[in-house]
Amino acid sequence: MYVDRVLSGMRPTGALHLGHYHGVLKNWVNLQREFECLFFVADWHALTTHYDTPEIIELNVWDMVIDWLAAGIDPAAATLFIQSRVPEHAELHLLLSMITPLGWLERVPTYKDQQEKLSDKDLSTYGFLGYPLLQSADILIYRANRVPVGDDQVPHVEFTREIARRFNHIYGREPGFEDKAEKAVKKLGAKRAKLYREVRTRYQEQGDETALEQGKALLEEAQNLALGDRERLFGYLEGTGKMILTEPEALLTETSKMPGLDGQKMSKSYENTITLREEADSVVKKIRTMPTDPARVRRTDPGDPAKCPVWQFHLVYSDQKTQDWVQDGCKNARFGCLDCKQPVIDAVLEEQKPMRERAKMYQEDPTLVRSIIADGCEKASKLAQETLREVKDAMGLNYG
Ligand code: TRP
Ligand code: SF4
Repeated sequence: MYVDRVLSGMRPTGALHLGHYHGVLKNWVNLQREFECLFFVADWHALTTHYDTPEIIELNVWDMVIDWLAAGIDPAAATLFIQSRVPEHAELHLLLSMITPLGWLERVPTYKDQQEKLSDKDLSTYGFLGYPLLQSADILIYRANRVPVGDDQVPHVEFTREIARRFNHIYGREPGFEDKAEKAVKKLGAKRAKLYREVRTRYQEQGDETALEQGKALLEEAQNLALGDRERLFGYLEGTGKMILTEPEALLTETSKMPGLDGQKMSKSYENTITLREEADSVVKKIRTMPTDPARVRRTDPGDPAKCPVWQFHLVYSDQKTQDWVQDGCKNARFGCLDCKQPVIDAVLEEQKPMRERAKMYQEDPTLVRSIIADGCEKASKLAQETLREVKDAMGLNYG
């Protein structure tokens, strides 16, 4: 069946922190309840920028998977795997590279941005230029139609759509397409075939979008179609060739409101993070020493929450009542900053408690995580092989 399939990846370049939790992982946890989800460790993508420090990757891969599980990703609901253990990604990347204009890659905004930002590294490499195309292969190999990403990654999903379109345009024109499509229509059964023909005509002659949607829904329901026939019928419906690769859409992740300890964005490079499973003592210490409104030198000096990073934490963690208490107490100097910080400390520790517990189980028995990933890789491989077979067919590589 053609269902919504969600795919996303993360590069294993460091311990995950509360910014990742509020920005990405909570969203993944919600998605896994609603959709078929595939989440993977993008270790090859990490190598594009960390090729000279490969030890970082090994160090972080397993910890990152534990962080995901700790955050509530459920291996029974989502498929978890590692990119480099499904080498089909690399084969698709290579095949897609044949039709990828260099200019398209050079124009992806992250290419120049990242080179400038990470100026201490030499990123004028072939691998780094190809970063978005490898990401396209990650997405297209599973025919994922929804890709949850932050706004910085939207250009990569757009790029992927263009690659899919170009691929379908070049290779979707198989010989005898019309005949094959007509034969496939008959396989829908009389009733469905009639409806298919009607909506197809309505869409192609009058551009009726609801007819197109109806046609797609009809194909989604038709269970006993072979994959190739289904792709033909999707393409035949829209008047293009066979749709071999699916154009994905970005599912924009709301940007995390989680600031760092200093009020800037929480990020490892700013050294202002609380990691997901940080020791309680360390969490307490970090929050207690957080900077506050500089006007509050003494307890009797009034302050303004708007000028205080602790207030940003209250916005994430505190209810209305507590927030009112902060506003009043700060502006009227009714309490000291340490008093004000206590509810935040309590809330962060409370949030981390189940995460620490879940993580403990996985840390005590590393074979659990290994077997979750082994299962996930196996499932992912099966899906990936199916697409790759179609792609190789289309590109003339399945000769005897
Ligand atoms: N580039 C993504 C990031 O840095 C990680 C990634 C790799 C990804 N492949 C992907 C995300 C495929 C979504 C889909 O965040
Ligand atoms: Fe910040 Fe609270 Fe101190 Fe006001 S009282 S400056 S909001 S920590």
